[in-house]
Amino acid sequence: MKLKTITLFILMVALTACGRGREAAQIEQQLVSEGVEVSQAAEEPEVPQLPVMETSLEDYPLQTATDDVLVLVNKTHPVTRDYVADDLVTVEHCDPSVGTADTKKMRKTAADAIEQLIAGAAQDGYTLCMRTGYRSYDYQDYLFNSYAASYGEAEANTYSARPGQSEHQTGWCCDVGIPGWGLTAFDDTPEAAWVAENCWKYGFILRYPANKTDITGYIYESWHIRYVGLEVAEYITENGLTLEEYLGILD
Ligand code: DAL
Ligand code: ZN
Repeated sequence: MKLKTITLFILMVALTACGRGREAAQIEQQLVSEGVEVSQAAEEPEVPQLPVMETSLEDYPLQTATDDVLVLVNKTHPVTRDYVADDLVTVEHCDPSVGTADTKKMRKTAADAIEQLIAGAAQDGYTLCMRTGYRSYDYQDYLFNSYAASYGEAEANTYSARPGQSEHQTGWCCDVGIPGWGLTAFDDTPEAAWVAENCWKYGFILRYPANKTDITGYIYESWHIRYVGLEVAEYITENGLTLEEYLGILD
């Protein structure tokens, strides 16, 4: 019994000393056990190089969790590691082969809206699913570092946010797709065209448009939509704006 206690203590000290490495390993283990494509970085196609906004978390004030549906999270407006919304719920129409139990969640209002969007698409003859909603800081850390290991940090940061800089951490956005298809395979599909044309009706905007990469700092993502509410989504879409432009926050 005493020996067991000492062994446990030594194990705990060792794990604590491992710090972030331990968390990364745990996340990777969780991802593998839940069937996530941990080697998905290797599947990412060549992407155009953008002027990189070099940022670090020290350069900008960290935002703490807020219920503001228009909260801006980007390369210059990061959030704290413990930023977690308190009303995350599981979205029913998810691609079961992607992500973890957590990444199948969104904030309640956004989750209801994405279910309505998927139902609306179905009425028009398109089968859509949610691929990834909420991502914790540590999950984003793991993803970004996977891409960075394969392609280098600068290139990775043209399509993958550094931890703390991803709006996936807010629970207000998600990547949509066709069940069983890869992420980038969504580009140029009728389903993607349907999303671009109709997502505002459900309160979403296409967050990273092709002609606004200099403002968003990310390449075009046909799959990444952000919930902002019906009124704002309609205004942003009608006027061809980004969330940054709508909010007048371009620093
Ligand atoms: N792909 C978007 C930018 C993210 O990683 O949050
Ligand atoms: Zn996304």
